[in-house]
Amino acid sequence: MKMERDVLAKPAHAALDVARLRADFPILAERVNGHSLVYLDNAATTQKPQSVIDALAAYYEHDNANVHRGVHTLSQRATDAYEAARANIARFINARTTDEIVYTSGTTDGINLVAQSFARPRLAPNDEILISAMEHHSNIVPWQLVCAQTGARLVVAPVNDAGELMLDAYAAMLGPRTKLVAMTHVSNALGSITPIRRIIALAHAANVPVLVDGAQAIAHLPVDVQGLDCDFYAFSGHKIFGPTGIGILYGKAAHLEAMPPYQGGGDMIRSVTFEKTEYNDIPYKFEAGTPNIAGAIGLGAALDYVRHVGVEAIDAHERELLVYATERVTQIPGLRIIGTAKDKAGILSFTLEGVHAHDVGTILDHEGVAIRAGHHCAMPVMAQFGVAGTARASFALYNTREEVDALVAGIERVRRMFG
Ligand code: ALA
Repeated sequence: MKMERDVLAKPAHAALDVARLRADFPILAERVNGHSLVYLDNAATTQKPQSVIDALAAYYEHDNANVHRGVHTLSQRATDAYEAARANIARFINARTTDEIVYTSGTTDGINLVAQSFARPRLAPNDEILISAMEHHSNIVPWQLVCAQTGARLVVAPVNDAGELMLDAYAAMLGPRTKLVAMTHVSNALGSITPIRRIIALAHAANVPVLVDGAQAIAHLPVDVQGLDCDFYAFSGHKIFGPTGIGILYGKAAHLEAMPPYQGGGDMIRSVTFEKTEYNDIPYKFEAGTPNIAGAIGLGAALDYVRHVGVEAIDAHERELLVYATERVTQIPGLRIIGTAKDKAGILSFTLEGVHAHDVGTILDHEGVAIRAGHHCAMPVMAQFGVAGTARASFALYNTREEVDALVAGIERVRRMFG
């Protein structure tokens, strides 16, 4: 646990000491195909600092037991650590109470929970769920499923050629039939930051609750769920330097209280007979089965890490990298940036004339540069831009200008090979 203590002892700083932060992430010392790893696939998943790895190991080495069940000491320790992580998460996103923090397996799980437990009972034929044209499949398909179950309709607010939500069109689509808005905070495919406060305020003025897909925002922007006044906010642990398989659904307590359970099983009940089951209080009502205890504890450690580094400083660093990367790639002939919104997070999606995105990704990998290539689980917005997929570099707090230079050199090499 030495690393964890060191991390927590470091003072907060306005500008990131990236060289020092990089030392917290052991994987960044890996060599890939004979090169130092340049990891630019952070929108897919982030790397883990030693403090998170240590927290996972410490849990399994010292405290491993099931939660909320045993009377024995280990079970109590596991439960305390698991619930302390929930309180930590509530503080991180400024939820009013820990009751509003539901553990899920990830963003997708949280959105499906809301679709089935919140939306489904409220939907009648011809009611509408309003999303945007740049949603991830995880914020499209759960709504399509619930529409098929209820006769409701999926309505899509348009995005302009820069990849910005067309706010007036969105506002005009809100009406008496709209039962829920489900909107991304940051587009995983384009990097656009949506005007989420305005989106929520407009929806609330029309009496419509809002779910925010925060998967791509949580590690990059300050998130204050009370400040946003969103009804639900879903995110994944692994996108904020935590483990995979753990996520959070924030929901306003009044909504969660009114919702039926999503899944049945252990931990979500108060009492069971064959005639009748009484459900547990929120948030446990939504946590059937043995949860991802280690994942929750690891996520808590990840949030400690991010809090210590400072989300504002991370945001500023990534924006600076994005500006630098954008300037550099703009000079590459045949390169087209997909997603040129004024307000963008650290995601750079592009196509290279005459080269398939997968070839770009494969050749960059030969140079040790990891990016994602493909449709990024956002096929509809790819179709709007007239492309099957893009190459995508996405930044995190540990990335550097030198890594952007390696990306650019790699792209130049791709061009020469296909030129
Ligand atoms: N949603 C993740 C991405 O954009 C997997 O890569």
